[in-house]
Amino acid sequence: TPAKLWGGRFTGATDPLMDLYNASLPYDKKMYAADLHGTAVYTQGLQKLGILSADELSSIQEGLKVVEKEWELGKFVEKPGDEDIHTANERRLGEVIGKHIAGKVHTGRSRNDQVATDMRIFVRETLTTLLEYLSQLIGTIVNRAGQEIDVLMPGYTHLQRAQPIRWAHWLSSYATYFTEDYKRLKELLVRVNQSPLGSGALAGHPYGIDREFLAENLGFDGVIGNSLVAVSDRDFVVESLFWCSLFMNHISRFSEDLIIYSTAEFGFVKLADAYSTGSSLMPQKKNPDSLELLRGKCGRVFGSLAGFMMSIKSIPSTYNKDMQEDKEPLFDALTTVEHSILIATGVISSLSINKEKMEAALTMDMLATDLADYLVMKGVPFRETHHISGECVSRAEELKLSGIDKLTMEQLQAIDSRFGEDVKDVFNFEASVERRNATGGTAKSAVLKQLELLKKQVKGN
Ligand code: ARG
Repeated sequence: TPAKLWGGRFTGATDPLMDLYNASLPYDKKMYAADLHGTAVYTQGLQKLGILSADELSSIQEGLKVVEKEWELGKFVEKPGDEDIHTANERRLGEVIGKHIAGKVHTGRSRNDQVATDMRIFVRETLTTLLEYLSQLIGTIVNRAGQEIDVLMPGYTHLQRAQPIRWAHWLSSYATYFTEDYKRLKELLVRVNQSPLGSGALAGHPYGIDREFLAENLGFDGVIGNSLVAVSDRDFVVESLFWCSLFMNHISRFSEDLIIYSTAEFGFVKLADAYSTGSSLMPQKKNPDSLELLRGKCGRVFGSLAGFMMSIKSIPSTYNKDMQEDKEPLFDALTTVEHSILIATGVISSLSINKEKMEAALTMDMLATDLADYLVMKGVPFRETHHISGECVSRAEELKLSGIDKLTMEQLQAIDSRFGEDVKDVFNFEASVERRNATGGTAKSAVLKQLELLKKQVKGN
């Protein structure tokens, strides 16, 4: 059996399956840069304490660069016995600069504070990339909304035609969700970006290392104030998984809307070929696979959150190996979200809309509320006008008219004498949309205001 870094008191060989079961290198090697960076700064801290000489430190820094290059070029040779990225990097550093110096690197440090540090650096960097991608997604939606501000479509509740809205208002609704995600992610980053380094295995650092120095040089916003928490807190993983889950939830609803809108029955939107696939059997088919995957992957990401919550439930204080189970779900969720944002951006920037179909789907019954509102303006209580408008709808149905706008003045006045000639102005979709000009509504001015606000919120970082 190969030498293990912690092998001192162990005499028996490990079950080979146990080695595999225990090893995290296959998935934690993606944190190689964070790990090397952490060691580079940690050894500076050791040098400040006089534990490393200036020469030793510079040899370590050189060695770390060599190891990093090997990873970058795909030339790092993994050896049996490399349990995880931390042991692999340290083993290799020893080969490069000699074990005598490399053997000092871990003084006062434990893999417990090391792995927590690496994870936080890695997560911080990945979330920062997600922020960038997310702002591009929001920007794409907002731009599209600005360009297509004049297109009307039905708004739905219960998937039933409800009231006319602007297509841009629908777009803006998802830009709003994603902007909230964006803001939430920034808040989360502050909690992720706290340094555990210098907490040792659990009890703290025996040589009084300057934790603030370590934190600052690793780009952290502060230090975690209790060493037991520093090594064992995985709330930042849970919160990141929750963030990913909620974001995917929004993505799934966005996708579901577009899937419905892309059916022949609706025909409001058409996906670009780049985001559709064909059927192996039915030549006419063009399937919205991109959207279905965006919708479906929500389940996988939430599964990671639920699974990890169970993994860390009831584990006793400080580090326990259960915590190694944080990586695969989190890495998978982060990658899934990253790809999902890019795909969603591609889909929304390349789909085409069918304005005629959207507007043809508007029906006069969708103005029944406006008809009720018309009488409200004449001083009739809304509860009464709601009833009167309902009567108009059913009267038009009885008479087999195409809509309430086809009722004659006599027929309307037979229902309620307060109807006047100006009622004709009600039967206009554009006017209905424009009437909703209070903040957040679907009138052009209100939608433009939303878009301005969204732009500001995402830029203001
Ligand atoms: N690879 C481990 C993890 O990801 C870190 C090692 C800490 N292990 C230990 N036995 N103290 O959690």
